Amino acid sequence: MKNSHNEIGIVGTGFYVPEKIMTNYDLEKIVDTTDEWIRTRTGIEERRIANVEEATSDLATKAGLKALQNTNIPPEEIDLLIIATHFPDYHFPSTSCITQNKLGLTNAVCFDLSAACSGSIYSLFVAESMLKNSNYNTAMIIGSEIFSRTVDWEDRDTCVLFGDGAGAIIIKKDQIGKKIISFNFGSDGSGADLLKIPAGGSKLPTSIKTLEQKQHFIKMEGKKVYKFAKKMMVDSVIQALDEVDLTRKDIDLLIPHQANIRILKAVAKKLHLPIEKIMINLEKYGNTSAASIPIALDEAISQGKINKGDIVVLTAFGAGLTWGAIVIRW
Ligand code: UT7
Repeated sequence: MKNSHNEIGIVGTGFYVPEKIMTNYDLEKIVDTTDEWIRTRTGIEERRIANVEEATSDLATKAGLKALQNTNIPPEEIDLLIIATHFPDYHFPSTSCITQNKLGLTNAVCFDLSAACSGSIYSLFVAESMLKNSNYNTAMIIGSEIFSRTVDWEDRDTCVLFGDGAGAIIIKKDQIGKKIISFNFGSDGSGADLLKIPAGGSKLPTSIKTLEQKQHFIKMEGKKVYKFAKKMMVDSVIQALDEVDLTRKDIDLLIPHQANIRILKAVAKKLHLPIEKIMINLEKYGNTSAASIPIALDEAISQGKINKGDIVVLTAFGAGLTWGAIVIRW
C-alpha cells in the first residue's frame, strides 16, 4: 500500500532529561560490572536518573513545553496528545491526561499508547492518521520513561542498559515538507515473554510474594531480543522504503531506537550505510525506550544533521514484540 500523506508535517521537537547523571563508574560501585564491559558491549557511557519527586508526566511536561516553545504554538492549539510509556504515573488515569493538565492543553484529546520502545513511532503514526481523518489540526506525541524505577539495581543484565528521559514531537496540518511518506509496522505476541515486567498487572497482581520475588522489575532475554532487533529494524526500513520506490541508498539519516551500539552498527552494515548516516546518542542517555527516537530526532535537528528534502528514517523495536519504520521527506 502506498501512503503519501501530503499535508501533515513535523513542526517542532523538544526533549528533557533529568539532571542527575549516573556513569558506568557509578554502576561499578553497585553491581558486578565494569565501565569497559558496558562501553564495549553496549556503547553506553552514562544515563540520566529522575529525582524522587519526578514522575513520568513531569518529564513529559518538560519535553512538551520545549516543543511548544520551539514552535511558538500556544498550548490550546494542540488537538491531540498521545504519550508512549512503559511506566505511566498510574494504571489510570492516563499519563497523557495528567500531562495535558500540566501543559494547559485544554483542547486536546488524550490517551496513552503501549508499544514499549516502539511507542513513539507508533504514536507518531497514529497521531498522523488521526489528523488525516478528522478536523484536528495539531497533535503532540511524547515518549516519556522512568526506567530507573523498573530495573532491578541488583541485576547487571538489565540495570546498565536503561535511562530516564522524555522527547516530544508536534505535527500539524498544511505544512510544506517534514512529512511521513511511508511506514511499516509489525507485532509478534509470541515473543511477549522475551522482555516484560511480570507483576503489577491483572495477570500477577501485586502481592508480598511478587515483591519478594522481584517480579515488578524488567526481565529480559537479552540475546534473543538482540537478534530480533537487528533483523526487524533492517526488514522494516527496507519495506517502508520500498513502498515509495526508495532504497537504502536514498537514506540521508537513519534515526534508530538507541538500544545498543552493536545493534546499530549491525543495522548500518546490513543497510550498507556509513556510520555517519546513523544518529547515535546512546552513549549519553542509554536506552530511554519510547523517549529515545524523539530525543535523537531533536538532537539531530539541533546539530544540523538534517537538511531540507532529506530522507530521514525512524526505526524502532521493543517489547511486545513490536517494531516499525517511518520514512520522512524533510
Ligand atoms: O529496547 C529493547 C531493550 N533490549 C535490548 O535492547 C537488549 C538487546 N540485547 C543486548 O543489547 C545484549 O544482548 C546485552 C547488552 C543485553 C548483553 O550483551 P551480550 O553480548 O548478549 O552478552 P551476554 O548476555 O551473552 O553476556 C556475556 C557475559 C556473560 O558472562 P559469561 O556467562 O560469559 O561468563 C554475562 O553474565 O557478560 C556477562 N554480563 C556482564 N558482565 C559485566 C552480562 N551483563 C554484564 C554486565 N557487566 N553488566
